Amino acid sequence: MAEILDGKKVADAIVEECKSEVGRLSLCGITKTLAVILVGNDPASAIYVNNKKKKCEYIGIYSKTYELPEHTTQEELLALIHRLNEDLHVDGILVQLPLPAHIDENTIIMAIDPAKDVDGFHPASVGALSIGLPGYVSCTPAGIIQILKRNQIEIAGKHCVIIGRSNIVGKPMAMLMLKENATVTVAHSRTSNLKAIAKSADILIVAIGKPEFINRSYVKEGAVVIDVGVNRKADKTLCGDVLFADVAPVASAITPVPGGVGPVTIAMLMHNCVFGLE
Ligand code: GUN
Repeated sequence: MAEILDGKKVADAIVEECKSEVGRLSLCGITKTLAVILVGNDPASAIYVNNKKKKCEYIGIYSKTYELPEHTTQEELLALIHRLNEDLHVDGILVQLPLPAHIDENTIIMAIDPAKDVDGFHPASVGALSIGLPGYVSCTPAGIIQILKRNQIEIAGKHCVIIGRSNIVGKPMAMLMLKENATVTVAHSRTSNLKAIAKSADILIVAIGKPEFINRSYVKEGAVVIDVGVNRKADKTLCGDVLFADVAPVASAITPVPGGVGPVTIAMLMHNCVFGLE
């Protein structure tokens, strides 16, 4: 039976490190400030933003939330971002995604000063990661590295298969695993023979957005399985992209949903706000 990789425990440790750094900075008269922008009324986004706000409060990061109406124009949003870019008191800017359909996400992401891009979504941040320069790293993949390292899971030399090629998870995850000297395969919805490729993984990272899609027939005996999925079932309970009860008996370690990758993602956002560019 697999070891359950407790994301809450990893997240708590990272949050405490942030809190102690904030305490140290406050002795030098430095306060970290995060600006969070939420456009529209998406209920899930409102919950995410509220969780980020509460975590900032606990750590001692000053967070300022801008809740803008659904009909906000792209120009109005850009004007706010430009103002926050120029504001010397603002260390980080986060625009909660998704944005309403009339606003182009890429235009917004590209407007954020890369020096304040705590989400790590700006092309300059993504490019810096690709060529090993300092830059903010997307929080979910950065958090997965923390889950592996803080559970003493060896990455170097291992075959890591990532299922999913999103800009936020799959692609930066591949770059981070390469940096850690893994051999990396990126698979996706159009991959032929997905099962055989997944089954060759020592570390299988699943971010396909299909509820409980990965069962034990995709998993090598003893593999480490990281489930990035967050899906709501008909009965309203949460599940991942991995069929946990079926896979756990064959894996050596596995993240649960909830309580796996999710809490660590928020903790890494806090880490990015507090420690800045690394
Ligand atoms: N929406 C879902 N996840 C994220 C995230 O990590 N950052 C932002 N800005 N929006 C999101």
